Amino acid sequence: MSTDRSRIDGGLPVRKGFLPLAYPLLGTEEEQEVLHTLRSNWLSRGPKAQRFEMDLKAYIGCDYAHVVSSCTAGLHIALVANGIGEGDEVITCPQTFVATANVILYERATPVFVDCDRRTFNIDVEQIEDKITSRTRAIMPIHMAGQPCDLEPILDIAKRHRLIVIEDAAHAIGAVYKGRKIGTWSDHAAFSFYATKNMTTGDGGMVTSRSKEMDTKLRVLSLHGMSADAWRRYDKDGKPHWTLVYPGFKYNMTDIEAAIGIHQLDRLEGFIGKRERIAKQYTDAFSEIPEVGVPHIASDRRHIWHLYILTLDIDALGVSQNGFVDLLKSENIGAGIHYTSVHLQPYYQDKFGFKPEDFPNARWLSERVVSLPMFPAMTEQDVNDVIVAVRKVVDYCREREL
Ligand SMILES: Cc1ncc(COP(=O)(O)O)c(C=O)c1O
Repeated sequence: MSTDRSRIDGGLPVRKGFLPLAYPLLGTEEEQEVLHTLRSNWLSRGPKAQRFEMDLKAYIGCDYAHVVSSCTAGLHIALVANGIGEGDEVITCPQTFVATANVILYERATPVFVDCDRRTFNIDVEQIEDKITSRTRAIMPIHMAGQPCDLEPILDIAKRHRLIVIEDAAHAIGAVYKGRKIGTWSDHAAFSFYATKNMTTGDGGMVTSRSKEMDTKLRVLSLHGMSADAWRRYDKDGKPHWTLVYPGFKYNMTDIEAAIGIHQLDRLEGFIGKRERIAKQYTDAFSEIPEVGVPHIASDRRHIWHLYILTLDIDALGVSQNGFVDLLKSENIGAGIHYTSVHLQPYYQDKFGFKPEDFPNARWLSERVVSLPMFPAMTEQDVNDVIVAVRKVVDYCREREL
């Protein structure tokens, strides 16, 4: 949405062209690799996907890495591979994208929500144990915005109650907790390479595991449930016959996607460095504005700034979250809401009878969070425009309140 006039003063907006919340940064290496793939006669899962898996494994330092069509797919097959299904309960946090909870429903298991912490947006670890029952099978924490949640106590709880931990690491490729990368800590971590994530394959994802046996299960599940390596059936040395071991899914990554991912991974540390610099500029500028709370960063973690989320003091501003977003848009600055808690979504309310007050922190954040533009292609001017626009919107709200 681009506007010619500022809603604030009827004058010109802070910038002429619209600055979106995010877009990917791709280079000639990605283009050349995709071209090479297109000319190689092998487009679906093949050597590039294999290479991408090796590169991801080396970067993260995980035991096994399997690339799939999305993070959602990775989370889903991790549940299936661990035999989680009807009658089972999976503990997760409602302050997330709906995919985290949806995959639990795919298998007719029950999502059991634990409220989040207002400062980090991550699951409130203190409340997890109260929600464990004899049916609980897994915990699915989310590393919101790219800041790892407090994994050690979660893993400790999981160990004591014999639960699987599947991390929703959609935002967290390259994030570090207590000196080790996300992807090295628990049974599984699923990452997203969706177009706006810190690195992209267009759409795509990756799921880690700790044993060869589990990795093989995931590979079988992501290719219809056909016996391992069935994707090689057309090779000279491949076996044309395969056996079906499970009614699986079509969740494989293609070589076209992997071709992009190989070079995005090479750029990832540079991308994160740029995001860190932008986050610092934002935090330096906004720390002086009490109406817009800046993100809290825990000292023992590396936040990779997939998102930069402000928490609005809507009472002091006298404007709603949507009103604030609209004002920013009229200055030609894009903004997002990450997220409206899953327990506030009509489907979940109808199915589970959730009330808004059931998860007070998630509800509180749902009405206050606003994400600002954050992507490595941003120029100094872009960052400055965002800062000027936020100040302008806050000043306008203050004057209206007088
Ligand atoms: C927290 C979270 N989990 C899961 C997903 C799903 O990722 P994908 O689109 O790769 O399936 C997303 C996507 O934005 C997300 O933000």
